[in-house]
Amino acid sequence: MHVIGVTDEEALRATGEETLRFLQQSVGIHKNDVVLEIGCGIGRVGKMVAPLCRKWIGCDVASNMLSLTGERLKDMPNVELKEISGYDLTGVANASVDVVYCTVVFMHLETWDRYNYILEAFRVLRPNGRIYVDNINLCSDGGWKVFETHRAWPPATRPPHMTQNSTPQEIKTYLWRAGFSEIEIRKDDDWIRASGVKRAENPV
Ligand SMILES: C[S@@+](CC[C@H](N)C(=O)[O-])C[C@H]1O[C@@H](n2cnc3c(N)ncnc32)[C@H](O)[C@@H]1O
Repeated sequence: MHVIGVTDEEALRATGEETLRFLQQSVGIHKNDVVLEIGCGIGRVGKMVAPLCRKWIGCDVASNMLSLTGERLKDMPNVELKEISGYDLTGVANASVDVVYCTVVFMHLETWDRYNYILEAFRVLRPNGRIYVDNINLCSDGGWKVFETHRAWPPATRPPHMTQNSTPQEIKTYLWRAGFSEIEIRKDDDWIRASGVKRAENPV
């Protein structure tokens, strides 16, 4: 429920398949890929991605989330789990990963940490590696509704963690500043879905 707003496994699976579809359309998941997810939660998407790639590395700041992923994906031998700091990918070697993705996480992060993860993705990706990130789009009607709902909280009682949307320009700027090429930004609903490639001429 906390991760995506559903409680039964079938509904969870359907949302995971939808995210996989976006990944396949943007970065593609291939059988020889090492794929890393930043903020993997309970492995909702990892469960779909791991059977399609060489190795899936699920990273999260929360050890309880990683325990749940470990339990849910225990029969998948190519799964590796990693507790991370909340802003970087320390411990993941330079140029060791083919795809980095981060879904339904940026709304929980400060802007600096969003960019830092994108910089870290650039570092750990091999030349020609691909990145996918998403967030709710402030410039959409639905994104604006989320913004207004949160604005309604009086500052004195505002909870510490509230959804913070992005603009397409923000995400595009981070990808470009980090060195990614072929940046694509999809805005077909209330979400920004962004991808890019680390071209060989821009190695770490
Ligand atoms: C809404 S869940 C999404 C999980 C998963 N990506 C999915 O789509 O099913 C958000 C996840 O981000 C993780 N998270 C929150 N802040 C984080 C941070 N600073 N660094 C890494 N993970 C973070 C949370 O622990 C949680 O597992």
